[in-house]
Amino acid sequence: MSEPMIDLRSDTVTKPGTAMRRAMAEAEVGDDVYGEDPTVTLLERRTAELLGKEAALFVPSGTMANQIGVGVHTRPGDELLCDPTAHVYMWEGGGVARLWGVTPRTFVGTGVDGNWSAADLEGKIRVDDPHYVRTRLVSLEITQNRLGGLVPPHEVVAATAAWARTHKLALHLDGARLMNAVVASGLTAAEWSRHFDTVSLCYSKGLGAPAGSAIAGSAASIAAARRLRKLLGGGMRQAGLLAAAALYALDHHVDRLAEDHANAKLIADVVAKTDGLSLEAGRVDTNLIWIVVDPSLGTAADFVTRLKRAGVLVSALGPQVIRACTHLDVAQDQAERAAAAIKQVALMGNLD
Ligand SMILES: Cc1ncc(COP(=O)(O)O)c(C=O)c1O
Repeated sequence: MSEPMIDLRSDTVTKPGTAMRRAMAEAEVGDDVYGEDPTVTLLERRTAELLGKEAALFVPSGTMANQIGVGVHTRPGDELLCDPTAHVYMWEGGGVARLWGVTPRTFVGTGVDGNWSAADLEGKIRVDDPHYVRTRLVSLEITQNRLGGLVPPHEVVAATAAWARTHKLALHLDGARLMNAVVASGLTAAEWSRHFDTVSLCYSKGLGAPAGSAIAGSAASIAAARRLRKLLGGGMRQAGLLAAAALYALDHHVDRLAEDHANAKLIADVVAKTDGLSLEAGRVDTNLIWIVVDPSLGTAADFVTRLKRAGVLVSALGPQVIRACTHLDVAQDQAERAAAAIKQVALMGNLD
């Protein structure tokens, strides 16, 4: 029998295991739009505590959590400052403009590992003049997907946030993979979150739940977020079935993220030593491995096709860039096999 494919396309491809499914099946539920689902209420309380915020709101996706974050802090005609590769800017369908009438203004990080710093934001605030939009919000992402999933230096995050506060800007954190940063850094989720007014967190990435995210913040901002969730069609009824999976993930799948990070490093070590391949960010801190494919090996899409034939799925996310991602459903021996396959495909060169 042939081995099943090793799926490294994303950490969203995990499937709930038996124990998680049991927790879902046994969840107490009610109509959450009426505020009557005890499992959702429990998840929201736990998430608020985890992130050190007054309140949290369960939403269907990370995209909705980020969009609600932008909606809470802005009015039409406002401006959002973010990195040009931020998910909220690059991968959310232009939602900030379509939904909220907000203009994004990007700043390129020139700091450690390509990360932003207060210096990159300096001079980006519009003067108070009727010609201009109002600069209102800074959105950062930790870990930042397109910057290799690296953990930014905590002091840089603190200084950037302090700069934003001095200029009376609101701060949102896209924390889709915040728990990866927590496990990799040893800092708590609340320590990272305290610099931000609102924080989104995904249960359905490395934590392995089938769906769901949260946005956390002050009681007032989460009351506003609840209105926006309804407006966007994100009010779910017996959502405790999904919240139970997220609670299970918080109980059982946080510490084990270290295994994903170790597996990612194992793959990255092989990539770094393979001719024709290199690590885009120079190293791996968490579960994302962004790999540059030298044109002598063909395009990223060619490489993905050849690797698929060798039993490994990864994503082509640029003409010469692929991303591999470790997660709950990839064991160490599979990571080793994937690394060997990547090396083999590269060694075979641009042959079809
Ligand atoms: C950093 C980041 N933020 C937000 C999201 C959006 O999450 P969702 O797919 O649940 O909408 C993603 C998805 O990959 C992500 O990588």
